Amino acid sequence: MDKFIIKGGEKLSGCVEVSGAKNAALPIISAAILGEGKTILHNIPDVKDIRTIIKILEYLGASVKYSNNTMEIDPSGINRYTAPYEFVSTMRGSICLLGPLLAKYKKAQFSMPGGCVIGPRPIDLHIRGLQRLGVDVKIEDGYIIADARKGLKGNYVFLGGTFGSSVLATVNVMCASTLARGTTVIEFAACEPEVSDLANFLVRMGAKISGIGSPCITIEGVKRLNGVEYSVIPDRIETGTFILAGAITGGNICVKKCQPSHIGAFIERLVETGISVKTGKNFVRIKGKSEWKAVDIVTFSYPGFPTDLQAQMMAFLSLADGVSVITEKVFPERFIHAGELNRLGASIQLDGSRAIVRGVKKLFGARVMASDLRASAALVLAGLAADGTTEVSRIYHLFRGYQNFENKLRQIGANIKREKDTLQ
Ligand code: EPZ
Repeated sequence: MDKFIIKGGEKLSGCVEVSGAKNAALPIISAAILGEGKTILHNIPDVKDIRTIIKILEYLGASVKYSNNTMEIDPSGINRYTAPYEFVSTMRGSICLLGPLLAKYKKAQFSMPGGCVIGPRPIDLHIRGLQRLGVDVKIEDGYIIADARKGLKGNYVFLGGTFGSSVLATVNVMCASTLARGTTVIEFAACEPEVSDLANFLVRMGAKISGIGSPCITIEGVKRLNGVEYSVIPDRIETGTFILAGAITGGNICVKKCQPSHIGAFIERLVETGISVKTGKNFVRIKGKSEWKAVDIVTFSYPGFPTDLQAQMMAFLSLADGVSVITEKVFPERFIHAGELNRLGASIQLDGSRAIVRGVKKLFGARVMASDLRASAALVLAGLAADGTTEVSRIYHLFRGYQNFENKLRQIGANIKREKDTLQ
C-alpha cells in the first residue's frame, strides 16, 4: 500500500483544474444501459470508483471503452442482471445500477451494500420507491432480489426519509420511471447537482422529465431511450477541497473548470471565516489569510452545506480563531477523521452528531491513517498546514474519488510525494 509524505508550511499558489464529478458519472454511466445503442461520455474522472463500475458493466455483458476521460458504453451484450458481493462491497455507489437494470431488463439481483465508516447506509427508500412502481423486492441471503416482469407502472412516490432526501434512491426511482407505463411523481426528491445532471442526460436520451433540480420531479414513461453523447459536470467536492487547500495554507489559488453555483452554501460559510473569495462562471479564486474566524457548520442535503465537504472544512476550522460547532444532519456518525486530526494537534471533541472544534494556533506533523474518501482529503489538507512532516497511510481511499490528487497539489506548490508504505 502507498502513503503520502507531506512537508507542511508551503503557501499554495497558482491555478488548478478540477475533473468531472464522480458522483454524477456513476449514475450517468449506469443509466447509459437504458439506451438502445452506444453512449459516449466525456469528462469522466479516472478514479477507482469509475474503474469499479466499468468492471461491473463488463461483468453484466456490456462493452466499455475508456481512455482520456472519455467513455463509450455499448449495452447490447448485457445478459446478466446480478451485481455480486465482491463488487458491491467495494463500492456502495454501484446500487445505482438497480433502477436502470429493472427498467430495461425487468430484473436485478444485488448484494446488499455494507455499511461504511461514515455510518449506516440503509436502502429502505430505494426499496420503497421501486415497490411503488410495481417491482417485487425481497431480501434473501444478503441479496436484494428485484423482479419487475409484471411491468413498471408510473406512480406517486414519496422519497423522504429520517435524514431527508436520498441521492441514489432518487437516481434509482427516476431511472426506473423513464420506461414505466404512465407518469411518476417523485416527492422529496434529492436536488443535488449530480441528480440534475443525470436528469439532463436522461432527457438527452429521450426521457420526459420536468421539475429537474426541484424536490418534486415528474417523469412521463416513454417506450425507448437512445444512446447519446454527453459531458458530465465538474466535481464540486474536488472544487471545495482545492479551495480549502489554498485557504488552510494562507495561499492564493484559482480553481478552474468548476461550477461555483454548485457549492454556494460552502462558499458562503468560507466567506464568513474572513477568506476573500471571487467567483466567475467557471472559476473560484481565493486570497488566503494567516488567520480566519471560527464558524458553525450544519450539513444538509442540497442546497445546504454538503456532507462530503464536512471533513475538509473541519481540518480548516481546526486552525480557526475561536470555537466552531459542526453538526452532521446527513451522516450523524461521519466524524472518524476527528481522531486523526487530533493526532496532528487539533482540539476536537465529539458529542453525538456534533463536533466541537476549538481552534489551535498550530498543527504538528505526525503519522495518520486515512479511513474513507473525504476523511483522507481532510488529513492531507491538515498536513499541508502542519509544522513538520505528516505521513498519511492507506491513501487508496483517496484514489476512489480524486484523479491525480498529489500531482495537482504539487502543481500549486505543495510539498507532497507518494511512497510505498512498508508498515502497511
Ligand atoms: C450519495 O450517497 C453520495 N454517493 C455520497 O458521497 C454523499 O455523501 C451522499 O449522497 C449525500 O450527499 C454517491 O453519489 C455515489 P443518500 P447516497 O442516500 O445516495 C439516508 C462520497 O464521499 N438513507 O443521499 O448513498 C442515509 O443513511 C460519497 O462521494 C436512508 O435513510 O446517500 C443518509 O443519512 C459518500 N434510506 C441520508 O439518507 C435510504 O434508503 C442521505 O443518504 C437511503 C439513504
